[in-house]
Amino acid sequence: MLDGKKSLFSGMQATGTLTLGNYLGALKNWVSLDPEEYKCFYGIMDLHSITVRQDPAELRRRARDLLCLYIAAGLDPEKNCIFYQSHVSAHAELAWILNCFTYMGEMNRMTQFKDKAARHADNINTGLFTYPVLMAADILLYQADFVPVGEDQKQHLEITRDIAMRFNSIYGDVFTIPEVYRGKLGDRIKSLQDPTKKMSKSDENPNASILLLDEPEVIMRKFRKAVTDSDGEIAYSESKPGIKNLLDIYCAVTGCSVEEALNEFGGLGYGTLKSRVAEAVVAELEPLQQRFRDLCKNKDYINTVIKNNAEQASYYATKTLRKAQKKVGFPERIR
Ligand code: TYM
Repeated sequence: MLDGKKSLFSGMQATGTLTLGNYLGALKNWVSLDPEEYKCFYGIMDLHSITVRQDPAELRRRARDLLCLYIAAGLDPEKNCIFYQSHVSAHAELAWILNCFTYMGEMNRMTQFKDKAARHADNINTGLFTYPVLMAADILLYQADFVPVGEDQKQHLEITRDIAMRFNSIYGDVFTIPEVYRGKLGDRIKSLQDPTKKMSKSDENPNASILLLDEPEVIMRKFRKAVTDSDGEIAYSESKPGIKNLLDIYCAVTGCSVEEALNEFGGLGYGTLKSRVAEAVVAELEPLQQRFRDLCKNKDYINTVIKNNAEQASYYATKTLRKAQKKVGFPERIR
């Protein structure tokens, strides 16, 4: 709780271009959460990004684009606190403290670490290893009650809860124990080329992912090439992952239920399904892309958002940090 409201934290890495998976699994859900009801914090997680080598100029550009995309998607920066993680030093400071309350064995079990270590075998740095601890710091600093994320981040949420409970059991109620906030649909959007895998920014096959800034004809083409199956019947079933994924995307974009979608598409062919899904996605993304282009031109406005929101985030984060520092025995500051 913060200022009498339930608090909410989430964020995205500033690497690669956002996919439709990021949008439907996270960003679109964030936009649906009412900042009058929740105290909302959304970070651009640039500290996490450097666990993999980045080109500095490119990282800066992507971080700014991500901030503009948050706003273009509908997050009002007057009502939601949108900020760069690297502008709030409390994240790194609390992460250090929490590192001392986290076990090697716990980090070793993280599936994302195992995946990334396999993909970046030449750079298995300790930042990659303790990545979830930094994530725990992000969440706990804002006393988040809820964390709206896609399915792939659930394991990180569990470890955040474990670390928070461990700390609280020693020092009393310092941190709120957060819960995953699940949107209605869309928390597991799959690759269009291999619908058993998640849609991911880092997929090497360009046809596997719809990128938020893809042109409409590119979106239409990628959906036309989506992998389905050979039985020709539109049904919602785990045994038909390609069709299920298209229906999930359609429902998450339009807000309709699976039953409504099945009624609409009953008896139609896969080609029609693909083009209807593609049209719905284009209709959703085109206005967002236009707002994004307009925002990018408005440099002064974006700079003001960056400055004001970092100050606001720092205010809340530092309060929690000071509490934790005091509990572990760091000396009081002399004013
Ligand atoms: P990231 O940047 O990989 O993903 C951002 C958000 O998008 C969701 N997502 C998906 N949802 C549905 N289907 C998909 N195919 C899909 N792909 C991605 C993710 O679940 C996530 O919600 N470690 C985090 C960033 C982070 C964070 C945090 C998140 C750092 N600190 C604290 C929440 C709270 C990450 O790499 O997300």
